Formats: sequence, structure tokens, C-alpha cells
Amino acid sequence: MPSSSLPIIAILGGTGKEGPGLALRWASAGYPIIIGSRQAEKAQATAAELNERLSTKAARGLENGPAAREADICVLTVVQEAHQSALQSLRADLQGKILVDATARVDFRDPRPPGPPSAARIAQEILGPGVRVVGAFQSVPAHALKKNLGQKIDAEVLVCADDLAAAETVIELANAAGMAGFYAGGLDNALVVEGLTAILISLNKYYGVKTASIHMAGLEP
Ligand SMILES: NC(=O)c1ccc[n+]([C@@H]2O[C@H](COP(=O)([O-])OP(=O)(O)OC[C@H]3O[C@@H](n4cnc5c(N)ncnc54)[C@H](OP(=O)(O)O)[C@@H]3O)[C@@H](O)[C@H]2O)c1
Repeated sequence: MPSSSLPIIAILGGTGKEGPGLALRWASAGYPIIIGSRQAEKAQATAAELNERLSTKAARGLENGPAAREADICVLTVVQEAHQSALQSLRADLQGKILVDATARVDFRDPRPPGPPSAARIAQEILGPGVRVVGAFQSVPAHALKKNLGQKIDAEVLVCADDLAAAETVIELANAAGMAGFYAGGLDNALVVEGLTAILISLNKYYGVKTASIHMAGLEP
């Protein structure tokens, strides 16, 4: 375990596309990382790839449950279809933590906004008041996270939470990952961020890019 005064971040479902990108950014900024998976070996393989790329030992891999229990802050990046089942199975492990929900329930092939409630609100209802849920990173494309490490990402992060202190913690995480984060209201507002993801995918498709992102005007981070 690397010694660090920074919180330990577990990325639950961290073996896919979005999770390793976030993990890479935070490990690069010095945060201890636990990659979570349904299979410990798969998590360990992803952690090893990350450590190799950064020449570090910042990351290790565990099954999702133990990963959540050992972390201070958990980030949920399971495939969207598994959002509710994963939360139900991890409910006990997540008590007392901040849970960052990056879920955007948008079909890449037919991008349109999901209906209410937001994924983050659903997470809060499943997990109960012992977990502080924050919706964030739903609109940050995985490929942007993995490129140009050490440089800022051309994307800003709208952070939604009912608990302001938890939101401010996640804004710090966004900043550490190279993105400006902005508090954007309560958990129900996270539905709009999921919907914005549908718009970004539509823009990417029409303009033949992968880089459409959100920028705020009239605010200083
Ligand atoms: N991809 C992006 O650019 C992007 C951007 C912003 C937000 N997001 C959001 O981030 C989340 C993950 O997206 P992704 O593209 O990274 O997904 P992904 O690569 O398709 O899958 C992520 C992980 O989900 C886990 N998983 C699959 N089926 C599961 C099940 N039945 N139960 C529990 N875990 C399961 C797998 O981990 P194990 O097999 O190791 O358990 C897999 O590695 C989604 O909610 C998406 O909306 C994605």
C-alpha cells in the first residue's frame, strides 16, 4: 500500500472503459487506487496495467465488495444495465462512504435522454441515508481520460449531490484529474447531465469527432 494522506478511491466496475481512465488520472495525481471487479483476477490485471503505465504501485485490484469496504470514496462505473443490481449487492459494503455515480443511461446507437429519476437518485434510494451519493463524470468520455496524462482535459464536470460537502470533495477529485468541476445542484439535476451525454454523443456522431464536451460560461472554477 502506498502511504498517502489522500483518500483511497475504489473504482467499482473499474475494468471497463471509463473506470480505468478515471483511475489512471487519480493514480497519476497520487491517490491510492483500488480497482474493483466481479473477479479479483480481472481487477488485478487492470491494476497491473495501470501501474505499468505510470511506473507506480498506486493501484491494486480486489472484488467489488472488499474494494468498497477498504476505500474512502467509491466510484461506480459498472455497465449501465448493471447499475441497480450492482448497487443492491454492494449496499452493505458502501455504508459510510461517498459513492460517485458516473452512470449515463444512454444508448450509444440511439442517444436520447433517460427518464426520471436520475441514476444518482436511484443509487441514493437503494443505498439509503448512510451513503452520500454524488453524480459526476457522466459526460466525460473514457478516451479523453486516457490521453495526454498530466495535462488538463478539455471537459468540465457538473457535480450533483444533496450533500454539499460530498459534492465539494468530488469537485476536488475532478480538479485532481485535470478537469474543472462545478456544483450543479441536487441529485435530481444529475438527470440533466445524463441527458447532456445523449447530446454529446449525437454531436460526436454528426460532426465525426469523439471530443464534444461541456464548458461552463460565466463562472470561475
Ligand atoms: N465509456 C465512456 O466513455 C463513459 C463516459 C461517461 C460515463 N460512462 C458511464 O460509465 C459506466 C461504465 O461505462 P463503460 O463504458 O466503462 O462500461 P463497460 O466497459 O462496458 O463496463 C464496465 C464494467 O462493468 C462491469 N460489469 C459488466 N456487467 C456487469 C454486471 N452484470 N454486474 C456488475 N458489473 C458488471 C464489468 O466489470 P467486471 O467484469 O470486471 O466486473 C465491466 O468492465 C456506464 O454507466 C456509462 O454510462 C461511460
